[in-house]
Amino acid sequence: MAGPSPAIGAFAMRRPAPRAGERGTDMGFRTLNDADVKGKRVLVRVDLNVPTENGKVTDATRLERILPTIKELSDKGGKVILLSHFGRPKGRDAKNSLRPVAVALADLLHRDVAFADDCIGPQAEAAVAAMRDGDVLCLENTRFHKEEEKNDPGFAAALAGLGDLYVNDAFSAAHRAHASTEGLAHKLPAFAGRAMQRELEHLSAALDKPKRPVVAIVGGAKVSTKLELLGNLVEKVDALVIGGGMANTFLHAQGVGIGKSLAETDMGATARDILAKAERRNCAIILPVDAIVAYHFEANAPSYAYGLDAIPADGMILDVGPQSVARIKATIDDAATLVWNGPLGAFEMRPFDHATVVIAHYVAERTKAGRLVSVAGGGDTVAALNAAGVGDRLTYVSTAGGAFLEWMEGKSLPGVEALRTA
Ligand code: 3PG
Ligand code: MG
Repeated sequence: MAGPSPAIGAFAMRRPAPRAGERGTDMGFRTLNDADVKGKRVLVRVDLNVPTENGKVTDATRLERILPTIKELSDKGGKVILLSHFGRPKGRDAKNSLRPVAVALADLLHRDVAFADDCIGPQAEAAVAAMRDGDVLCLENTRFHKEEEKNDPGFAAALAGLGDLYVNDAFSAAHRAHASTEGLAHKLPAFAGRAMQRELEHLSAALDKPKRPVVAIVGGAKVSTKLELLGNLVEKVDALVIGGGMANTFLHAQGVGIGKSLAETDMGATARDILAKAERRNCAIILPVDAIVAYHFEANAPSYAYGLDAIPADGMILDVGPQSVARIKATIDDAATLVWNGPLGAFEMRPFDHATVVIAHYVAERTKAGRLVSVAGGGDTVAALNAAGVGDRLTYVSTAGGAFLEWMEGKSLPGVEALRTA
């Protein structure tokens, strides 16, 4: 990504004294700077849960992000033992084998990656015993054992028996309190890997200790899935742009006729509560002031821009309109920091990706000009930014989906908390 890498060592040294209840973002983590790995067996929790089609990885971003940690540990003479889940199998299931992902990883790493068909037991033990210093080994899907998701102490102990040290480099799985993401951190000396460290640095800079003013853009279909997120953001940011289907719910709650647009009409009171809370907290809410309307929910359906007082009764809002785009740009002009989750319109169908694409380019420009720290995350968001061709032009794009949302909701992430030394 485009952002500057954190200075080595700064992460642990810059930390302020932890305050009770404060979220663990930049406090009290040991990093690889603090780990003496030569000749040691290092269990590294990575997130190899990458999208695949017919056994081929279709988006290798998560793999690319963990290369620095793997290379550093290997170059320092550690035995690098990778642990990860893949998919959501119910027990052992060949469809969810990590083997093809390990092959893709070896290609990117330009080094051999050995593979063991189980993550505990005799096969794992034999594979670890065969390792030389600097070797990389990938163990099979941790979720082939149901004890993983139960954070079973016996399973965590069996994993711990394979290593001397534990490194967590999987921020995107840190919202899960599972054995390999949480339990294990209590059983071995634990460290944040480089990718974890970068995520925490950038996310903290975006929301916990941001340069103000801060603007958040939140889109997506439903208010109901992002209630906690909106409630937390209005307390933290100076301006909140609401787009996507969820904006319709807010407009409807304010008495705007939205025709046949997708909306959660039963969420009116909730939407009004969020608006009232924003007002108390001095958070400006930027709702659409116009809309792109079509009569069919399909790609390339003829569409027209309307003001909010003129949305046709049989029309559907599928994107924010040109005046709204201008307002969002003006809001971004005023901001020093931007956090983005969720597209502004039905971005998977052209031309209803238009506002999202235009704003994505604008954010990239402001970032390049040094005027904006921009951070984005969440599955759809990253797909939208990549489709707009700016996935690598923001300050930081998180690889996390669910974990990014929980972080935006202000929650502590168990995998992060377990790494804390303070
Ligand atoms: C993700 O892809 O968001 C993470 O790997 C977590 O996966 P999970 O939602 O199946 O726990
Ligand atoms: Mg997920």
